[in-house]
Amino acid sequence: MNSIPLCVPSIGEDEIQSVVEVLRSGWLAHGQKNHEFESMFADYIGSKYAISMNSCTSALHLALAALEITGEVIAPSFTFVATVNAILLAGAIPVLVDIDSDTRNMDPDLIEEAITDRTEAIMVVHYGGLPADMPRILEIAEKHNLRIIEDSAECLGGRFHGQIAGSCDVGCFSFFPTKNITTGEGGMLTTDDGKLASKVRALCGHGIDSTTFSREKESRPWIRIASRAGHNFRMSNILAAVGVEQMKKVSDLNGARQRIAARYVERLGDLDWVRFQVIPDGFTHSWQMFTVLVPRKKRDKLIGHLRRHNIEASVHFDPPIHMQPPYMDLRRGSQMEETELVASSIISLPIFPSMEQEDVDSICCVVRDFIGTD
Ligand SMILES: Cc1ncc(COP(=O)(O)O)c(C=O)c1O
Repeated sequence: MNSIPLCVPSIGEDEIQSVVEVLRSGWLAHGQKNHEFESMFADYIGSKYAISMNSCTSALHLALAALEITGEVIAPSFTFVATVNAILLAGAIPVLVDIDSDTRNMDPDLIEEAITDRTEAIMVVHYGGLPADMPRILEIAEKHNLRIIEDSAECLGGRFHGQIAGSCDVGCFSFFPTKNITTGEGGMLTTDDGKLASKVRALCGHGIDSTTFSREKESRPWIRIASRAGHNFRMSNILAAVGVEQMKKVSDLNGARQRIAARYVERLGDLDWVRFQVIPDGFTHSWQMFTVLVPRKKRDKLIGHLRRHNIEASVHFDPPIHMQPPYMDLRRGSQMEETELVASSIISLPIFPSMEQEDVDSICCVVRDFIGTD
């Protein structure tokens, strides 16, 4: 059997041509392509502003920095470490809570229980492409006057009751190669708040309010005024060119992911030892990952079995954050039973838009052949 990687980015001739054009143009740093990418992205999310940058981690960091959040931020323990690194490195305090093992997303009741008078924001993660319970989380945020930062790194195109993930307050997205669209490395921050957007843009580019590209239209483009101390988290024109081409295909790419996921469910649905992610009514999954829960004792053996058959199964995420050294001593917002269960029994199976239905069938045959220890 041919090997099946966990993920293959969908890069075609359009992306290659576009990059070649930018390279030939001589304008390699932040430029026209960033503006195009940002405008397409803002249209897709339905936000007033979209700011491209070098990663989702930078977007999360700048969201917190621009909002001047230094108090407690409630976040899930079941996530990639970048979610919580951004909170800590921005000078705020992560308070971790448990998830619901069906959705793998934060349990809203536990969010509410974890709120104190020091809480300033909720950092929501949409695990693997399934939006968290935003209707409840929005209610809680409003009741307690909290900001919402959506870590939508894994969710571009997921929806709840028609509303797209990342559009609630401040949305942060990743374009790492495993994500719904890619620029190699890259991120985007979305918001409707003009003041916040200007601040984020400045923080992203050395604290200077204008960009080199926008200053070219001014009478004295050589004057660069820094309104605050900032980073250089910008995305290059080269990568933004890839982003523009990817945005043209986002619906097709997500449609292909949807078909792969449906095939997995069809081929594995009768196995009583396999638990799929449960999609609540009215929610749409963007299938950045396809994960299953299997009995804890079988998990590592099944991954070994799949890998011996050249199928690159993996785990996202084990250990969870509260068991990672920098975070072990943090005050916890809840017990972590579900997080620990999910982290030790989850498997990510390959999913990417160019995957063939036959690849899914072969993977499912290998899973079905597996006889693990009970
Ligand atoms: C939930 C989550 N947050 C943040 C990130 C970080 O994204 P980036 O690699 O673009 O910084 C990831 C990346 O994999 C992620 O899965």
